[in-house]
Amino acid sequence: MTIYENAPLKKFNTFGLDYFANKLIHIKTEEEAVSLFNGKTKWEKPLLILGGGSNILFTSDFNGTILYPEMKGIKIEEKNNESVIVSAGAGLNWDEFVSWTVTRGFGGLENLSLIPGNVGATPIQNIGAYGIEVKDLIVRVRTINTIDATTRIFSNSECEFGYRNSIFKNKEKGKYLVTRVYYRLNLSPVLNLSYGSLIEEVNKLGQESLENVRQSVINIRRSKLPDPELIGNAGSFFKNPVVSSSFADGLKNKFPEMPIYDDKDGYKKLAAGWLIDQCGWRGKRKGNAGVHDKQALVLINNGKATGKEIYDLSCEIKKSVHEKFGVDLEREVEVIGTI
Ligand code: EPU
Repeated sequence: MTIYENAPLKKFNTFGLDYFANKLIHIKTEEEAVSLFNGKTKWEKPLLILGGGSNILFTSDFNGTILYPEMKGIKIEEKNNESVIVSAGAGLNWDEFVSWTVTRGFGGLENLSLIPGNVGATPIQNIGAYGIEVKDLIVRVRTINTIDATTRIFSNSECEFGYRNSIFKNKEKGKYLVTRVYYRLNLSPVLNLSYGSLIEEVNKLGQESLENVRQSVINIRRSKLPDPELIGNAGSFFKNPVVSSSFADGLKNKFPEMPIYDDKDGYKKLAAGWLIDQCGWRGKRKGNAGVHDKQALVLINNGKATGKEIYDLSCEIKKSVHEKFGVDLEREVEVIGTI
């Protein structure tokens, strides 16, 4: 375990915002986590568990303790003729893990290539892209309770997954530290090429294989989404709004071009990026904060932005989308700090 006082957070959030935390604790093992939660090691509340920092907007210094899990390691837990259960440590970089699975011919995660962040965040956020959500692959999640230091293993259904949501982000927010995640992967991969232009990109590369799907997703993401190493951002800033089917039908009459997707019974999902784009925000800049020019759902730090500037920009965007379409956008990114 390594404890840093007054720690800079610039490298711990993909917006690249320059704030500080009173304390930053790196832990490498479950035992170290237990010693923190049973009172053997001193730390000050509030506690914030950070993965890759790819879904967070700091708006001020953090007056508490940030926990950075670094448990790594990949293990094949079970194997039969059809599938394999592979577990990965919470601190492992997500895309390194996806690459590992694809190289071995294990199917399921290839559409989720290049999503920033670490393994531990994937069940919390139920990451998704190109027609796949990670909830469809997760078998169980190993955690430690931050209040009483006990271990708890959540089954898939106990995780209460929803669109970019889970029990860990919702009812039990901040209560459990994810230490390991178990995924069931397919030994005879069934590719999912249904989303947008994915199939065309795969065909450009050649045969329909795991490697080519992974490479296609990487190519598409690189063409639309800014690399956080170069331009600070947190991927989609807002969720795609889910509205009643009747409301969606009304919008479609008024705006026939609007992309609308099926969702659960009686509901439709709208494309937040399209709504924001139609309000004229794509490529716009406000001070040091801006909207990405190739994907309006992504807010960016033009170099010297404060969290507050990015937050204020998100409020303006919410307001104009509400005025034009009567739709309330919900932030996907978690705002941490004073505003
Ligand atoms: N669109 C525009 N203008 C824009 C952006 C999008 O007109 O500036 C239109 C597109 O043309 C398309 C529709 O909106 O018709 C949807 O856009 P896209 O296919 O790019 O996907 P998205 O709905 O904006 C979601 C996820 C992304 C994920 C992609 C691909 C959410 C909030 N976002 O974006 O996830 O990579 O689909 O599956 O669900 C993330 O969560 O950080 C993220 C990047």
